[in-house]
Amino acid sequence: MPRTLDPELRRALVERIRFYNELGIYDFYRWEPSGSVSSGKHAAKIEVEKDQRELGEQMTPRKATAIAMPIAVEENIFEVVAAKPEQGVSDPATALKIIREDLGDCTRCVLHKQGRKQIVFGVGNPKAELMFVGEGPGADEDQQGEPFVGRAGQLLNNMIKAMGITREQVYIANIVKCRPPGNRTPEREECDTCSPFLMRQIAAIKPKVVVALGAVAAKTLLAMSASMVQLRGRFYDFKPTGVRDPNWDGCKLAVTYHPAFLLRDPRQKGEAWKDLQMVMRELGLKAPTKPDA
Ligand code: URA
Repeated sequence: MPRTLDPELRRALVERIRFYNELGIYDFYRWEPSGSVSSGKHAAKIEVEKDQRELGEQMTPRKATAIAMPIAVEENIFEVVAAKPEQGVSDPATALKIIREDLGDCTRCVLHKQGRKQIVFGVGNPKAELMFVGEGPGADEDQQGEPFVGRAGQLLNNMIKAMGITREQVYIANIVKCRPPGNRTPEREECDTCSPFLMRQIAAIKPKVVVALGAVAAKTLLAMSASMVQLRGRFYDFKPTGVRDPNWDGCKLAVTYHPAFLLRDPRQKGEAWKDLQMVMRELGLKAPTKPDA
């Protein structure tokens, strides 16, 4: 039976939800405790304390999105307090600005203290139908504050041009927004900490198609582990994790090789082109008759 919250408990829950929001966590689910489990105010307090301990010890934001709140109340404080700040903002450019502000001078994962010069948020058309997602900034991107501006970026530009569109028409972002030292692959925890912001960017833009560039992007976005050979060659129905938007059914997601991989193994360019042609068919795009890529 729903009941009114004790004011002291309400204050404690609001404080806790705000704390999670600060970490970029906005999604919670409710759990009704059954018979043998202690119920009500006491159980809620135990859970909050337990979350506190776990958060300090081992929780990553992805795990934290499944924090159980064993309480049913008349008011939905989770909806009220945990609403993402861009929720209800229909202009994608404004929503992206709000998400950027929410990200702030991020110190949520270790990458902030491992030599990053700046956060590389994302670039392009806020109303893009097509979005590319890479792994993380390299040295050039870290220097310039824009994704894919180095050698891999030049190849990505050529791939975009071969599709008959321009870089300015699409939106480009990465799974992590800070350069991993020595261009190492971002750790799972770094991806899990950063990707909720990317999910919100995707939800703000509402593209028709997202192209995941490489295994890190594909595995993080799809939350599944498989080889590139298994992941490529088909569309996935994709809805950004943690996003509830009754006005958007999500989009298609395709996986292709990362441009940096294609620079190392140009023989795979033909396969990547097949992936992009599949995307072009979906978007009704025609390649220029004489691609200068
Ligand atoms: N590689 C990436 O994954 N992203 C960039 O922005 C640049 C290189």
